[in-house]
Amino acid sequence: MVGCGSAATGHVYGMAASGQFDIVALAEPSPESLERFRARLPLLGDVPAFSSADEMFQAVDLDAVTVVTPHTLHHPIVMSAIKRGLHVLCEKPLTCEVAHAKEIAEAAEAAGVVVMVRYQRRFDPAYRFMREKIASGELGELRTIAVTCGQRWQRGTAGTWRQDPALSGGGMLMDSGSHLADMLLWLVDRPVESVSALVDQCGSPVDINTSATVRFAGGVHGQLTVIGDLAITWMETVVVSGSDGLLRYEVDPQHPWRTGRVTFSRDNQIVEPLRLQRGPSEHEAWADAIRGEGPNLSPPSAGVRVAELTAAIYRSAREGQTVRLDTDADVALSA
Ligand SMILES: NC(=O)c1ccc[n+]([C@@H]2O[C@H](COP(=O)([O-])OP(=O)(O)OC[C@H]3O[C@@H](n4cnc5c(N)ncnc54)[C@H](O)[C@@H]3O)[C@@H](O)[C@H]2O)c1
Repeated sequence: MVGCGSAATGHVYGMAASGQFDIVALAEPSPESLERFRARLPLLGDVPAFSSADEMFQAVDLDAVTVVTPHTLHHPIVMSAIKRGLHVLCEKPLTCEVAHAKEIAEAAEAAGVVVMVRYQRRFDPAYRFMREKIASGELGELRTIAVTCGQRWQRGTAGTWRQDPALSGGGMLMDSGSHLADMLLWLVDRPVESVSALVDQCGSPVDINTSATVRFAGGVHGQLTVIGDLAITWMETVVVSGSDGLLRYEVDPQHPWRTGRVTFSRDNQIVEPLRLQRGPSEHEAWADAIRGEGPNLSPPSAGVRVAELTAAIYRSAREGQTVRLDTDADVALSA
């Protein structure tokens, strides 16, 4: 495991629940982080720790690594792992720059290793339900989709690497917003044609609030709203409108960490599925893909597309213009 901060804990639980992994080494430069991590997870007390990923790669025979570090460190660490033939589960965003994401996608392909981006909503039954309804055509012709997420992020991350562009690569859009950018692209599943966006830094060195209008091939309108100065802990909604139906998803603000509630309306009926089909977790899917027993359900191409959308949003907001992705691809990141 590379990076033993707060999100790494979820990876330990996820890997343990899958029953497919042995955690044999840790790489963490901060003694304080490491101590807190071992205190939270006493079972890992004897697992050897190294102060850098490369030291760990040299010292221990590994099959795979999780990369759970600040954002701009993902690219060099993932590239180093790929060069050693290791499979990777990398936290979001895969990279902060389009060229870096493409480099990882190409290197993973050439090395024959599985690099998965940890976009866990791809494994969430409610999001899977929405994607299935759109893909099956039950919604009719897809017309508009509005995806919104908000967190008390600006206050919650003050003074941490998340508001330091050198380590975060951007603000709330690069952080939790990355999940919803991926959901917008994954649910619509068509090429992006153009992006028009507003970004408010609210006095921070990084983006706090973002509103983006995204035009997809076939004229589908997408709206991505990312709120980093929310007055409450968390909110997340999705509304997808098609010629024959409507999907609505909302996280329950009283249980913000749980999966949300989804409804499907069609022919004047509201269908609220009581049982949503569970698929593999991201750690189970990663293990299946490594063994060649399943597809990579969150491949590096997801990281490339999110990086392209993110860069287009920053550029549109900076220049006050609509950015066309077909002609202006590989736009540089502003942050
Ligand atoms: N998927 C999710 O829902 C989710 C939730 C939270 C965080 N994350 C992601 O997880 C990653 C880490 O976030 P976090 O909340 O755990 O942050 P954190 O600050 O709690 O932990 C990051 C850890 O990385 C360590 N680190 C720094 N440089 C390193 C290096 N060169 N090599 C190894 N470790 C290094 C830090 O010392 C720290 O312990 C980010 O990519 C973040 O976006 C994802």
